[in-house]
Amino acid sequence: MPKFHALTPAAGSGARMGGDLPKQYLPLAGKPLLCHSLACLCRHPAIDRVFVVLAPGDREFAQHDWTPLGAKLEPLYCGGATRAASVFNGLMAANAAIDAEDWVLVHDAARPCLPFDALDRLITDLREEKTGGLLALPVVDTLKRGDAESYVVQTESRDNLWQAQTPQMFRYRLLLEALHATDPAAATDEARAVEQLGLRPKLVMGDTRNLKVTYPQDLALAELILRSL
Ligand code: CTP
Ligand code: MG
Repeated sequence: MPKFHALTPAAGSGARMGGDLPKQYLPLAGKPLLCHSLACLCRHPAIDRVFVVLAPGDREFAQHDWTPLGAKLEPLYCGGATRAASVFNGLMAANAAIDAEDWVLVHDAARPCLPFDALDRLITDLREEKTGGLLALPVVDTLKRGDAESYVVQTESRDNLWQAQTPQMFRYRLLLEALHATDPAAATDEARAVEQLGLRPKLVMGDTRNLKVTYPQDLALAELILRSL
């Protein structure tokens, strides 16, 4: 039986957030933001190991007590220059613990409010799939294409358009092959790398609460969501 593992890239600098402390360590509801992002993964009974990819020079992780998250957690100090490089390096470093056909769920450190139900839906909906897939949300806003001066060029149809979230779940061997073949600067998510091999990841209904913390104003919303989960 293939196993399930999680891998969380947490080697970014949080440039859009600003400040000295990378956003994954900012305090959120009394804990580092990263702690919430990992907690949901550690809590799911199907998930075997939870790898967290840190920057090689990270000194912050070791300052915190992670024992409440249990024995599944394993830090890997091998982050790269881009998100895709961090994921690829982490997959390589975890090689001994993962079989080729095992599933890997890649989940951003920057998404601390993943509801357990959404994670469970992803695993349940994809475990019999060949390729894998991702949590995503149908686009609800009206879409405008603008020009360089921010004037509307036209209104775009939102039919069949989805916003990608994480986790994204693929087989270990496929993920390595896809990321190896891709340009790390262009691959903003794992699904895109897999698509470029000519495969079609499945879209699984995500959750609006699974927001990505990017700008300072996202923190207050994330805190409200965490308190309501
Ligand atoms: N990430 C990573 N290695 C990198 C860049 C990003 O592991 N070289 C991780 C981040 O830590 C984050 C996730 O990828 O959990 C999604 O990236 P993003 O939200 O863009 O985070 P940052 O790159 O840190 O933020 P910014 O783009 O504002 O600098
Ligand atoms: Mg980034």
